[in-house]
Amino acid sequence: MGDIKTVGVLGAGTMGNGIAHVFARGGFDVRLCEVEQRFLDRGLEAIKKNLEREAAKGKLTTDEAVASLGRIQGTLNRASLAACDFVIEAATEKFEIKSKLFAELDSILPKHVILASNTSSISITRLAAQTKRPEQVIGMHFFNPVPVMKLVEVIRGMQTSQATYDAVKELSEKLDKTPVEVNDAPGFVSNRVLMPLLNEAMFAVMEGVATPESIDEVFQLGMAHPMGPLTLADFIGLDVCLDIMRVLHDGLGDPKYRPCPLLVRMVDAGWLGRKSGRGFYQYA
Ligand code: CAA
Repeated sequence: MGDIKTVGVLGAGTMGNGIAHVFARGGFDVRLCEVEQRFLDRGLEAIKKNLEREAAKGKLTTDEAVASLGRIQGTLNRASLAACDFVIEAATEKFEIKSKLFAELDSILPKHVILASNTSSISITRLAAQTKRPEQVIGMHFFNPVPVMKLVEVIRGMQTSQATYDAVKELSEKLDKTPVEVNDAPGFVSNRVLMPLLNEAMFAVMEGVATPESIDEVFQLGMAHPMGPLTLADFIGLDVCLDIMRVLHDGLGDPKYRPCPLLVRMVDAGWLGRKSGRGFYQYA
């Protein structure tokens, strides 16, 4: 699989820009690819701000922050990812979108290149099947905020080879992250366990058991969670939470994964959490 020096990141949203940030900070050259200039500009601006924040906190020097930013090249041209040694996709969490991207990337990238997905719940096995390199497809699931959270959930699809797994494990360690190996199943481990907690907290709000503030306080003070479940749901994005609950519900077929009707209504209303200014809380 060769030495990985240049990394392609597809998508400059919250996860994509965080992933580009940690690869650049880890010394890799990064091609950050988006579909529109305004999304690319927004992503690059977020990376600049977060690198400056890290420099201000003394986590890296100003020179290192500037050099990291300099290693990121924005592009709107997916074909330019052909120059990459490794590509990670962090596009919208919809199978139809990701499957098309995987088929396209497979036709663009040299044969030896590993193709990873940052999907939070979609089957790696199904994504791998869209390509002619299924043994080189793998899940590399980062956590928000990516520059801060230590975990990378590394998901083996049914076809993923040991060499691919070993390369991604090593890559995660080079980023100063801790890889944890899991097998492919709806929601993997992280979201299979986390999302039902968030969904249940939403049922508790809907049924008037307690306010979002009280529920969050229970988890912050009683279980030492850094954020209560409703603050966390707003932070992740309620649309993302709903998509993941639907993957769990469809994939596992158990009614215990039924998305909370309040969550569905809030997403229908465009109340998507922090990013839209309103979710379980209001944001300035
Ligand atoms: N980039 C760089 N640094 C950042 C950052 C970013 N985007 N966001 C926060 N930080 C740094 C801050 O500068 C601060 O640094 P110091 O410790 O040096 O002061 C540190 O992180 C803590 O941040 P804050 O002081 O601003 O705030 P906080 O103490 O409340 O922590 C938090 C914020 C790290 C987000 C914390 O609340 C937390 O850990 N929350 C839970 C997050 C979580 O569960 N994430 C996973 C979500 S699930 C997911 O991502 C995957 C999925 O599939 C849905």
